[in-house]
Amino acid sequence: MCGIFGCVIKDGQAVRLITDGLKRLEYRGYDSIGVATIVDGGLHVRKDKGKLEEVVEGLRINEMEGTIGMGHTRWATHGAPSRVNAHPHIDGSGNIALIHNGVIENYMELKDELIEKGHIFVSRTDTEVIPHLIEEELTSDIGMKGAILRVLRRLKGSYAVVVLSTHEPDRVYCARHESPLVIGVSDNGAFCASDVPAMLPYTNQVSYLRNGEMAVLTLDGYEVVKVIDGSLVERNLEEITWSLEMAEKQGYTHFMLKEIYEQPESLRDGLRLQEQYLNLLTQFLDRGKDVFLTAAGTSYHSCLAASYIFSKLSRLTTIPVVSSEFIERYGSTVGIDSVVLAVSQSGETYDTLKAIDHARMRAATVLGITNTVGSTLTRVSRAYLIQQSGPEIGVAATKTFTSQVIVLSQMALRLAKQKGKLSQDELDEFEEKLTLIPSWVEDTIQSNSGYIEALAEKYQDDKLFLFLGRGISAATALEGRLKLLEITYVPSLAYPAGESKHGPISVIEDGVACIFICPRGDTHPNIIGSIMEMKARGARIISICEEGDEEVKRLSDDFIEMPRGIPEELSPVPYVVPLQLLAYHLAVLKELDPDMPRNLAKSVTVP
Ligand code: M6R
Repeated sequence: MCGIFGCVIKDGQAVRLITDGLKRLEYRGYDSIGVATIVDGGLHVRKDKGKLEEVVEGLRINEMEGTIGMGHTRWATHGAPSRVNAHPHIDGSGNIALIHNGVIENYMELKDELIEKGHIFVSRTDTEVIPHLIEEELTSDIGMKGAILRVLRRLKGSYAVVVLSTHEPDRVYCARHESPLVIGVSDNGAFCASDVPAMLPYTNQVSYLRNGEMAVLTLDGYEVVKVIDGSLVERNLEEITWSLEMAEKQGYTHFMLKEIYEQPESLRDGLRLQEQYLNLLTQFLDRGKDVFLTAAGTSYHSCLAASYIFSKLSRLTTIPVVSSEFIERYGSTVGIDSVVLAVSQSGETYDTLKAIDHARMRAATVLGITNTVGSTLTRVSRAYLIQQSGPEIGVAATKTFTSQVIVLSQMALRLAKQKGKLSQDELDEFEEKLTLIPSWVEDTIQSNSGYIEALAEKYQDDKLFLFLGRGISAATALEGRLKLLEITYVPSLAYPAGESKHGPISVIEDGVACIFICPRGDTHPNIIGSIMEMKARGARIISICEEGDEEVKRLSDDFIEMPRGIPEELSPVPYVVPLQLLAYHLAVLKELDPDMPRNLAKSVTVP
């Protein structure tokens, strides 16, 4: 996830608007900054890694001239934060500059093709291929618009791009596919940005581009065309009535809610992993005599879920362990034959880094999954994958859990394929189901959010909650309970449902709320038994079950219905979403700030 902003304006300096717009887009990324303008027919680019203020001051960006320009604030996915990897990226002739938010899946093959033709690349990004492809298309004399359209048709993956070129120094081209982009118009000119707040001080007349659309911005306004055939799209502007503060959260009241709603998009990005690194990590995993999965908090719950997935799909035993316990528990057994996969959104969690320091000292192979390219975890890991969910501002991790689980699931499937542990049919089926996860999450949010809000009202005075699930759903239960605990402070327990009769059942009395996670699958018959045990003792049952699961619904006081066909092995991703929403609404009803729970920090970098 990155922030992009472009404009062409009648009076004054474009750069002041660009840096101001980027400031409001920093929540989308903040590891590098870059700006490009065109003055007297010449392209001017300044960029570097670092925070906005530092780079703007260090490179004196605000002194750049031009009435047309664009800027980018980066959250690295391909290539560590550095000056060369920062956007804008330039073609070989130095006449075309481009900024991008998204992931180009087929960039390797496009790059190879361009290298064959003599193009020279300076960065490690996926983005750099795009200006070079445009340069290549321009040789066939079809003009900027034609060249950009042809290139966009060749890209696989997600993008929101803005292009400036000295060939047409008065036009900003911008386009989107599965990454957000909005255009805006005022008496002073035209704008485009990743979202509305960036341009709200200058205009409230906006239009959201749809997938597969390109806009051309000029001082006279804008034109929108379809990428597929260049045909004109009639698109009226709409008026935004949000305050600036509301707009920063895109109309959501809290970042946590916004991030819950962003999950279909972040999951789509999480499915766009770089093949070579996916293969590399799974090859390392395969070589381990012992495979440890270590992490803290939500990331630990992702590891716990993954241990079931590795076992079921790849027939690989993995040992999930909370990172603060790693050294005491496995410090003397970890060694040269061990693989330690550390999972951390920030890549900076003290306990996790301590655990892998120890593992490295004992010559183990350390691998990483993180959201933060350039973090300590990426620097010390032998190989790593990026979860690609973009910055998460709410202290309660939401996108983090779902993205990490989808990344770990892809690793498990890849390993199953490499080791021949699943039949071709099974592999095809799981691969297809993985691609459906983002839309299952979308459906879950759309069809249940109102109901869950009402449910929160009903249970807002409850003093205790139990979260129970069997098999992999025990991990979902733990994660749902962590969300509730950290933002509402309501005491709660989470257990594998079968274990509840060995102790936790003693807290059940009339009316205690028990939340059961009941996807269809191997554990389904057993969960019915667990529900009956609790019900017999007076618990109020809230279940999350598949649509049409009459057996569970009959036993429940309240139920949240999930889309049909979700395999149990992948269920933590969609099934955790109602729990995130329930925790969020309960916190709001209790007049607590879910974005800033007491005593907690987003990243715990101390012992
Ligand atoms: O950055 P990390 O993934 O390593 O962070 C780990 C935990 O601190 C984090 O998941 C924490 O538990 C969250 N507040 C959970 O919502």
